[in-house]
Amino acid sequence: MSRSARSDPGARAAELREQLTEHGHRYYVLDDPTIGDDAYDALLDELRALEAEHPELLTPDSPTQRVGGTPVSNLEKVRHLQPMLSLANARSEEELTAWIDRMRAHLAREGIEDPQFSYVVEPKVDGLAISLLYENGVLVRGATRGNGEIGEDVTHNLRTIGAIPLRIDDAPERLEVRGEIYMSLADFEALNLRRAEEGLSTFMNPRNSAAGTIRQLDPRLAAERPLSMWSYAVGVTDGLSFGSHWESLEWLRAHGFRVNPDIVRLESTEAVLERCEDWQARRGSLAFEIDGAVVKVDDFELQRRLGVVGRDPRWAIAWKFPPTTAVTTLRDVMWNVGKFGTLHPFAVLEPVHVGGVTVRLATLHNEEDLARKDVRPGDDVIVLRAGDVIPQVLSPAPHVVERSDRAPVPHAPANCPICNTPTIKDEGVFTRCPNRDCPGRRWQLLQHFVSRGAMDVDGIGERQVSLLMEHELVRVPGDFYRLTEEQLVELEGFGEVSARRAVAAIAASKQQSFGRVLFGIGIEGVGSITGRNLAQRFRTIDALLAASPEQITETPGIGPIVGQLIHDQLHDERLQAVIEDLRALGVRLEEEGPPPGEGPLAGRAIVLTGTLPNLTREQATERVLAAGGRVTSTVSKRTDYVVAGESPGTKLEKAERLGVPVLDEPGLEAVLRGNVESAGADSIADSAGAVESAGADSIADSAGAESADDVESAGADSIADSAGAESADDVD
Ligand code: IVH
Repeated sequence: MSRSARSDPGARAAELREQLTEHGHRYYVLDDPTIGDDAYDALLDELRALEAEHPELLTPDSPTQRVGGTPVSNLEKVRHLQPMLSLANARSEEELTAWIDRMRAHLAREGIEDPQFSYVVEPKVDGLAISLLYENGVLVRGATRGNGEIGEDVTHNLRTIGAIPLRIDDAPERLEVRGEIYMSLADFEALNLRRAEEGLSTFMNPRNSAAGTIRQLDPRLAAERPLSMWSYAVGVTDGLSFGSHWESLEWLRAHGFRVNPDIVRLESTEAVLERCEDWQARRGSLAFEIDGAVVKVDDFELQRRLGVVGRDPRWAIAWKFPPTTAVTTLRDVMWNVGKFGTLHPFAVLEPVHVGGVTVRLATLHNEEDLARKDVRPGDDVIVLRAGDVIPQVLSPAPHVVERSDRAPVPHAPANCPICNTPTIKDEGVFTRCPNRDCPGRRWQLLQHFVSRGAMDVDGIGERQVSLLMEHELVRVPGDFYRLTEEQLVELEGFGEVSARRAVAAIAASKQQSFGRVLFGIGIEGVGSITGRNLAQRFRTIDALLAASPEQITETPGIGPIVGQLIHDQLHDERLQAVIEDLRALGVRLEEEGPPPGEGPLAGRAIVLTGTLPNLTREQATERVLAAGGRVTSTVSKRTDYVVAGESPGTKLEKAERLGVPVLDEPGLEAVLRGNVESAGADSIADSAGAVESAGADSIADSAGAESADDVESAGADSIADSAGAESADDVD
């Protein structure tokens, strides 16, 4: 211990804290360290030793606190001081200028003619949004965006991030800083490599790994993983005010926050467009993933005047990049079995990096699609990964087509790739495995039954279904309900807690709607919407079983051929056995709620748009139907209500134009309770305010909202299965 430390440990600790903070800032924020890692570690060790000997010297902002403190037992919910908004999108020059025109029109209505806009253009980092709260300069809380209104307290993990100041100087009483947590591509790859070597599952992409890490309960995990943050906005500021966004960014930068140095302020639309395209061009050479650029009106007074529509501020827009493609070699075309036996081709690729994800497998949809694209093993092919959907093979690369040495056109195999039964040709187009006991078909059916759109059983996914089948615990849907905790605990990947939860989730699924059951049991021609329509029309399974093909055809969306097909399957012994089994187990086989023509929303047409804070689209639809209403997809004068959530898009605009009443989620709840008149009365004007208070999960956050385990386990090997699952069988 140094002399100064012995004589005045308090002063030495303060000195060390200051030095370490400064070096940390240089390293993590400025990317410009002036001392080496060893020297830094030596200072850190000294401070740690001092704090151990004099615990009273330990401060919450000490750099030693970044290594990961004590784990928390759960993530507390926190209400944001100001809602965390999302952004509307523009994908073309037209859409960008349309946005500017909309702003001008809005301001003109406010009496502001010909406003002079300055714009700030920023990268749209593909991570997860968080909010940091500083009280008198000390970081007191950090939270995820959550649904925009309520997020989760992840302070313990955020403290470990070097780019987040634990204390700021000359700080106002209260300051909220917002930004994006992310993992750089290099760090992401290194992390995955390490995990693969250790035999651990790898992460899908940098965003998932950042989101999964931030929601861990034990901060030591976050401390080991290289996360960073770009700060991009201030939220609540008590005792500090800014005239413009630019000013606030400069303040943040000067006070130790990491603000992207490539953010610029521009005066003209042309310059903005050029800058957006520039980000697009530079996208592939950045150290981190971006999925667009964000354009914000700089002036805070103009921002205030422009306000918010739905969850999106009028004063900002996300310039979204087109979907990402890459060229790689098609190693092989392989085949999978769908739930009704149809064989589906999928591509085995030379691994390729597309939009931050390593793609090894891609869907080729079906035989027709394969023939049309004419891709052959050995070809260089173009692979598309749009957003979060399954990657697909688009076409051969242009130079391939001229080659004379191409492999022959791949054909569906003569025998089922799973059970080896000779395949049959269906209506001349599709090849099928006719074996109804084919384990591939069974697996598809069983995993479909528990999937999110059907019975929605949490904790039982593709992997678990495989395990359950391997152990011969599940053969037909009813078997799920006979599983016990004792049986599950024996299986790989289950512990006592997860087994208990899974059994509870399975039991709870007995209460899923009749329409979901009809969809879940796997009737060819019955997608989720048809399932719901059949349930609504026939009300009980017995009425449906007794229906003639003609009566079935009277259901919306069902033509004569599909009507006959559904009828025949319902009279199939096996399906009847499945149904009777479920009935005996207490699964709901009747429609709840009033028959059509009754209920608080009887005869009303409702359009849903955007993401609601609490209800999924499916849930909202079910609630409307249960109340006797109809859900339609286009807004017209005959629409009774438009229910708008986050990122509502053009449907909201159309509703406003036609004067159709707009509801937010609480408004919907009110009409569902029968409060039709009062909710009907407050139309656009009121609901604009009401909509503002409705939050919604963004895609980025829903990745984070899933447990870290889920995110990690969603590996590439599930793509082969899902490539098969997404099939021509799903009629609607
Ligand atoms: S501004 C105006 N700026 O994009 C309120 N967001 O769709 C919206 N994001 O949840 C936030 N980079 O996760 C803003 N420079 C940036 C951003 C950014 C990434 C994310 C953020 C937010 C989502 C909005």
